[in-house]
Amino acid sequence: MPSMRTIEAQPIANRYARGWHCLGLASEFSDGQPHTVNAFGTRLVAYRGDDARFHVLDAHCPHMGADLSHGVVRNNSLVCPFHNWSWGCDGICNSIPYSITIPPTARVKSWPTCEQNHLLFVWHDPAGKSPSAELDIPRIDACYSDDWNDWVMEKWTINTNCRELIDNVSDMAHFISVHGVPVEYFANIFEGHKATQVMLGKSSQLAMEGGLLTYATYYGPAYQITEMKGEMGGFTIDSILLNCHVPISLNSFDLRFGMLVRKIPGLGEEQNQEMARTYIKFTQQGFYQDVAIWDNKVRIDNPLLCEGDGPIYHLRRWYQQFYQDDGEVPAAAREHRVFELNPGGLSTAPPLHHVFER
Ligand code: FES
Ligand SMILES: [Fe+2]
Repeated sequence: MPSMRTIEAQPIANRYARGWHCLGLASEFSDGQPHTVNAFGTRLVAYRGDDARFHVLDAHCPHMGADLSHGVVRNNSLVCPFHNWSWGCDGICNSIPYSITIPPTARVKSWPTCEQNHLLFVWHDPAGKSPSAELDIPRIDACYSDDWNDWVMEKWTINTNCRELIDNVSDMAHFISVHGVPVEYFANIFEGHKATQVMLGKSSQLAMEGGLLTYATYYGPAYQITEMKGEMGGFTIDSILLNCHVPISLNSFDLRFGMLVRKIPGLGEEQNQEMARTYIKFTQQGFYQDVAIWDNKVRIDNPLLCEGDGPIYHLRRWYQQFYQDDGEVPAAAREHRVFELNPGGLSTAPPLHHVFER
């Protein structure tokens, strides 16, 4: 008698992914106030200083533990609400109102940030190394074009480990069963810090004649951009989707879902915006369908795969690189690999490339 497969799951390592993480629209942090960010198992504070740059610091004041995100921004510094110690954007205490001297260890961690595509990013690396330029978030020209609507963005908190979300990249089989999208063709491309899903599907509401072709690329562990062409109400819709997350704890993450839609000529600004909102609402339903599964499933390290499944094991090998120090990542995790599934038996596959790289 063949034996029965046992589900295996190691305890989740107490570590968060190395990489750029998107905190949402930069404009939400531009008001000169400190903003609370719960991320990476701790509390951070994000603010924009007089220098018009965004700064992220550890939020817990080492004097007596108050929350700096409840303080005030003064010039480029953050003043603690408890005893008014002032912390520079470099994390170094630069003034104590009632003391001439400042203790030499009076500093909090200052996190690297960047602004790109009107989004704010924070860099996380447990080893404390700065990001290399090859990991820069690529510019999306549509973000800066009058031909496109601004980001429409939604955020919600999901109570599971973020690896569940990443599994979606290679999980072809769930598109029909969970999302009702029959897949004609499916491929994954892994290369360095990028992982791409190429999918030709059929979606009754988003589809073009001949199917819905999407290119979705993860740049690092937590920021995915999708290029999608669809149709709604007789209009062809060009859209760019943002799917990004920030781990709050080992068992929860903030998920942000954003969309840029090319303006439809002949429609007014309000109608264009409305179109984008309708479209985003519909696409969001897909995430709720995933959440309904995540809410009730268990973590599994040894999925029992069959022929038509995507390369879940390789995906996880790729994803694991972000949980290792940069110098310790095995070459296999970063090598260029292409996996194809062709359930529709297409004679010609779509061109295989990362998003926007055709
Ligand atoms: S706890 Fe921050 S100044 Fe005292
Ligand atoms: Fe999904």
